[in-house]
Amino acid sequence: MAQRKMILDLDTGIDDALALAVAVAHPGVDLIGVVASYGNTLVEEAGHNTLNLLHLLGHDDVPVYLGAEHATTAKNFEVMPISQAIHGKNGIGEAQLATSPRPLKSQSGIDFIIEAAHQYGDDLILVPTGPLTNLALAEQKDPSIGQLIGQTTIMGGALTVPGNVTPFTEANINQDPEAADQVFTHQKNFTMVGLDVTLRTLLTKDYTAQWRNLGTEAGEKYAQLMDFYIDAYYNLDIDKKGAALHDPLAVAVAIDPSYVTELPLAMRVTYDKKTGDYGRTIGDKTKLLESTDSKAAILVDTDRFVADFQKWMLTVLK
Ligand code: BDR
Ligand code: CA
Repeated sequence: MAQRKMILDLDTGIDDALALAVAVAHPGVDLIGVVASYGNTLVEEAGHNTLNLLHLLGHDDVPVYLGAEHATTAKNFEVMPISQAIHGKNGIGEAQLATSPRPLKSQSGIDFIIEAAHQYGDDLILVPTGPLTNLALAEQKDPSIGQLIGQTTIMGGALTVPGNVTPFTEANINQDPEAADQVFTHQKNFTMVGLDVTLRTLLTKDYTAQWRNLGTEAGEKYAQLMDFYIDAYYNLDIDKKGAALHDPLAVAVAIDPSYVTELPLAMRVTYDKKTGDYGRTIGDKTKLLESTDSKAAILVDTDRFVADFQKWMLTVLK
C-alpha cells in the first residue's frame, strides 16, 4: 500500500488516544505530526497527553504542535463536566503515563498545517477528531489550503441519528459550529465520519483484556484508559453494550473508505443562536443542484472494522 502523509488534530481524549495508536500502527500512512486542540481537555494537556502516549507507543519521532486554546467565537475555554466524566480529569481516564522526554514544538499547529498543505498537497490527509477550530484558523490565514489538502476526514457531526450534546448536535461540532461550518464548506474531498457510524462501533472489556494480556506497559496503560471509558459509557447510560470507537474509525476511513457507505452531500453547519438551530450538520440547501466531493458516512461494516481495529491495537501495543 502506498503511504500517504497524515496529520491528526486531536483533543486527546481517550478515543483520540486510540486514533493515535491506529495511525502509528497502520502500514498505509506516515503520521507526520499531531496538532493538539482544546476539547476533552485544555489544549496544553491534550498536547502533553499526545507526547506521552507517543512515548509509550515507542514513536518519539512524531512531532506534536499546539493549536488553539478556545473556539473562534470565544475568549476562553473550560472543559465540560461531561467530558471529564467520560475521559477523566486528565483526559486519559486517570491513567498515569511516563513523561515524554520531548517538548512540544514551538511552531504553532496552525502554521504546521499550512506548511504541510503546501509541501504535500494531494498526498496529505488531515484527520481532525476534535473541534474544527485549528483547521478553520489555518484556512483564515491561508485560504488556498482548502484546495491544497488532498483529503479531510473528520470525526464529528450527526446526520441520520440524534446528537450527543443536543438532539442534533455532536460534541466536536458543538465546541465551535462557526469554525465547523467554514471547514465543511471549504475543504475539498471532505468526509464526515459522525455518530451515524461511530455509535455502531463498540468495544468491550473482552478486547481490552487481550491488550492487558500482552504483558507490556503499553498494553496495560491502554487497557486502563479504555476500561475507564467503557465504565463511563455504562455508568452514564450512554451505551451499556460497549464504548464507541469514534476517533479511530475516522482514521481507518481516512485510509480505507470501504469500511463505510458514503452519501455524497454538500453539507454545512448551522449556528443561529436566535432560533436555536445551532450545531446541526445538514445538507447545504444552496448546493442541492451542484455535484460535490463532500460525503457523509452513513453505514459501517462494524464487524470488519472492529476486527481490524483489534489487530492494529495488538500490533502497536506489543
Ligand atoms: C467526539 O467528542 C469527543 O469527546 C470524542 O473524543 C470524540 O471525538 C464524540 O462526539
Ligand atoms: Ca476527540
